[in-house]
Amino acid sequence: MASGLGTLELAHQFIRAHVKAGDKCIDATCGRGRDTALLCELAGPEGKVLAFDIQPEAAEATRKLLAERGHANAEVILTSHARMGEYAEDGSVAAVMFNFGWLPGGSHDIYTLPESSLAALEQALRLLKHGGVVSMCIYYGRNNGYAERDALLEAVTKLDPENYTVLRTEFVNRAGEPPIAVFIIKE
Ligand SMILES: C[S@@+](CC[C@H](N)C(=O)[O-])C[C@H]1O[C@@H](n2cnc3c(N)ncnc32)[C@H](O)[C@@H]1O
Repeated sequence: MASGLGTLELAHQFIRAHVKAGDKCIDATCGRGRDTALLCELAGPEGKVLAFDIQPEAAEATRKLLAERGHANAEVILTSHARMGEYAEDGSVAAVMFNFGWLPGGSHDIYTLPESSLAALEQALRLLKHGGVVSMCIYYGRNNGYAERDALLEAVTKLDPENYTVLRTEFVNRAGEPPIAVFIIKE
């Protein structure tokens, strides 16, 4: 088990630096709601957070966490993030968070898949306003294999540098297959 700074923490630091009160944000994989709660806190009562997941267990866990923390500015939507484009206007979103893989404490057989993840990423980039950001935590190996990681990394590598700045961070001195964080800024 790696110690020290984690990928999730890196993503949270990046998001904290870019989201402000009143922003519209998306959690593309809400799981147990930790990222949704962060976005709700940063966007504040004047802002709005859309949170997607395909598992009822995740939607319920997220709603419960938000209620415990007193956040009323989120809508939890039980559908694939591949449909996020139906829920927001192009150019209106300040941040989209992706935390790929399976639900922590849930089934390891239900996880994000390359085709829907790529479709969601494409829509996320369209929904972003200028200066908006995407954070991605990519988990791979074990049940979900490598296809999603490879497809996502290939896609972000091909983004036009005139329109997007893309950063990739890796833990180079940790054993096993530590997650990869990718951060995108729309110019
Ligand atoms: C690593 S977990 C997310 C953790 C979460 N951000 C948190 O703070 O607890 C990945 C989540 O993605 C969800 N997921 C899988 N495929 C999905 C899809 N097509 N659309 C939306 N969510 C999906 C899983 O159900 C799981 O809850």
